[in-house]
Amino acid sequence: MSIVLFGPPGAGKGTQSERMVKEGKKTHISTGDLFRAAMKNKTPLGIEAKGYVDNGQLVPDSITIGLVREVLDANKEGDFIFDGFPRTSPQAEALEELISEMGVSPIQHALFLEVPKQVLMERLTGRRLCKDCGAVYHVKSAPTAKEGICDRCGGETYQRKDDSEDVIATRLEAYAKSTEPLKEYYQQKGLYIEIDGLGDTDSVFSRIKPYL
Ligand code: AP5
Repeated sequence: MSIVLFGPPGAGKGTQSERMVKEGKKTHISTGDLFRAAMKNKTPLGIEAKGYVDNGQLVPDSITIGLVREVLDANKEGDFIFDGFPRTSPQAEALEELISEMGVSPIQHALFLEVPKQVLMERLTGRRLCKDCGAVYHVKSAPTAKEGICDRCGGETYQRKDDSEDVIATRLEAYAKSTEPLKEYYQQKGLYIEIDGLGDTDSVFSRIKPYL
């Protein structure tokens, strides 16, 4: 069965997804990662998405839903972790339609990672990523052994353009307006589970593991 993992920016969705993939043998679909890859490769989708992503705004539903449709079309086998998708009510409805239309493994749980706002700001401003393999670090809680160099592949680390304080504020607003209402959406469907996202990454994962 598939899982929706949602929560505010910086809640730890990407970090936990990596472990969920390994443990739960599921395929990870992160719309944020897909947009960043398209932006890096300067594809038409990437060029279109860049203006939204860099400014902390949501990419329009039609583009985002079309992207997920393409990804599922290329591989609909097995179970999925939907990370950062859906992020609006129309996306949530579209995901259900895609699942039934394409025969994709249905959603068993919608896991919401709960983290207070002041912690989110600290996590996001301190985040660093590897330019080559995408590994995620944090200057305080998960630093690289050698500053600026990825432990995993030796690539250079960088700070996301949308991890500046002013863009984070816009992302948090977009989250409050469009994504937070999904809590109620999934509560009504009986799929909603709240996970305490505080504590180290092992502790958070131990709370998620029973739902894999
Ligand atoms: P996306 O990349 O999905 O950004 P986000 O939702 O804002 O989430 P983040 O990637 O910032 O955070 P995360 O929750 O994955 O946290 P992480 O594990 O990295 O989307 C980017 C943009 O793309 C959006 O703004 C939008 O423009 C567009 N977009 C994407 N999907 C879209 C959609 N469906 N519709 C429309 N537009 C869309 O952790 C953060 C940091 O904290 C890291 O440094 C990590 O090391 C650290 N950390 C993690 N867990 C812990 C812990 N337990 N303790 C201490 N530190 C921790």
